[in-house]
Amino acid sequence: MPQLETVVLAAGQGTRMKSSLPKVLHPLGGRPLLAHVLECALGLEPRGLHVVYGHGGEAVPAALSGYDVQWVHQAQQLGTGHAVAQAIGAVDPASTVLILYGDVPLMRPETLQGLVSQAEAGALALLTVELPNPSGYGRIVRNGAGCVERIVEEKDADANLRAIREVNTGIMAVGARRLGQWLANLSNENAQREYYLTDVIAMAVADGVRVHAALAPDVDEVAGVNDRIQLAHLERVHQRRQAEALMRQGVSLIDPARFDLRGSVTVGQDVTIEPNVILEGRVVLGDRVRIGANCLLRDVEVADGAVIHPMSILEEAAVGRNCQVGPFARLRPGTRLQEKARIGNFVEVKNSEIGAGSKANHLAYIGDTTMGREVNIGAGTITCNYDGANKHRTEIGDNVFIGSDTQLVAPVKVGTGATIGAGSTITRDAPDGELSLSRSKQITLSGWRRPTKKAK
Ligand code: UD1
Ligand code: CA
Repeated sequence: MPQLETVVLAAGQGTRMKSSLPKVLHPLGGRPLLAHVLECALGLEPRGLHVVYGHGGEAVPAALSGYDVQWVHQAQQLGTGHAVAQAIGAVDPASTVLILYGDVPLMRPETLQGLVSQAEAGALALLTVELPNPSGYGRIVRNGAGCVERIVEEKDADANLRAIREVNTGIMAVGARRLGQWLANLSNENAQREYYLTDVIAMAVADGVRVHAALAPDVDEVAGVNDRIQLAHLERVHQRRQAEALMRQGVSLIDPARFDLRGSVTVGQDVTIEPNVILEGRVVLGDRVRIGANCLLRDVEVADGAVIHPMSILEEAAVGRNCQVGPFARLRPGTRLQEKARIGNFVEVKNSEIGAGSKANHLAYIGDTTMGREVNIGAGTITCNYDGANKHRTEIGDNVFIGSDTQLVAPVKVGTGATIGAGSTITRDAPDGELSLSRSKQITLSGWRRPTKKAK
């Protein structure tokens, strides 16, 4: 069985994106278009993965440095045939070459595998698609017997050929040795003065190589991105696919059209996600987790039975079993909630450990804090963790009760079972089991009168 090598064309400019970002780096589902193509290609386990880049320069390889790719620079974009020719020298002549495009992100590995199998059996395998409006695309010209003879680009086609609705997707697979020979013989004598990859079809026919044209099962799968309208369309297609995969895994998506996954999610059983939830990065949701409307979770783990109420934002945080978060809560990086902890509305937590069963139910800021179990944080409490230059930690023992509107000026410790009176500014450690408070004495000025408005 010949080895597979993949060549991805990604050197074009993408003028219609009207962007300073190279087209193939525009995100779809939170990752560059080109990353989708590379992942699809890697799914076929090729021996070599070659990417032809040019426009956008080194920004393209730099953005995808995590992938094991052989980068091939195409200084001038002289056509698709010229682009493949830049890479073919590095391809083992005994291998089968699969040609993909950095701006065609939604292909399925199964579809490509079909082409590769045809090529391994000696054919030139080509993926085509039928479009109601074929304008702009290369037309597939078949003979009377229905066999493909050649591809004619729109700009080189007469009215009869332009009427053909079967078009070239550009995706093809063929033996590397033959492809190399054909590429060496391309000419740019055509309407665009480009070296057309599509001209190899007629060369294959002339050499008696069977051309196998497979019709793509799904137009969106072979659709390229040329402008932001097409990008937005493919984003919705991608999100729909992901949403359906999650629903098949048993997730209740209350409205799959209003769900965005920009990364990966692992789910337990009976997860429910309300509308307008965005998951980014790597998200893990345990059994029976519920996520309310309008939440954003980025790189978050939520354990079994926890509920994230609406309008909450969680980043780089871990939520323990049966916790309750929100509505309107913000968990910032480094937050860890142990089981049954409760973070309520307008509470911000950063780089803190919140012990099991502890609660901060309203209007609080907890930063750089280690908190024990069964602690109650009163409304309006804040940790003063920043002195203008450095961050300091607050330590709160088990069973502590912090009265409302307390400032804990770090570094400071509140001992196990301690109580802090409401309205205190705590600057020194509070001992275990005692009531500590700092509060000016209440006075009454008897006979005082409220000012009244002057008569006009
Ligand atoms: C090409 C096909 C056409 C097909 C269409 C599908 C040719 C000659 N024509 O036309 O039959 O219907 O795609 O979208 O192949 N690229 C490079 N270097 C270059 C030129 C292009 O890397 O020198 C890359 C582009 O970045 C793009 C892809 O190749 O991703 C296709 O190039 P493009 O110029 O868009 O080709 P089309 O004219 O659309
Ligand atoms: Ca194109």
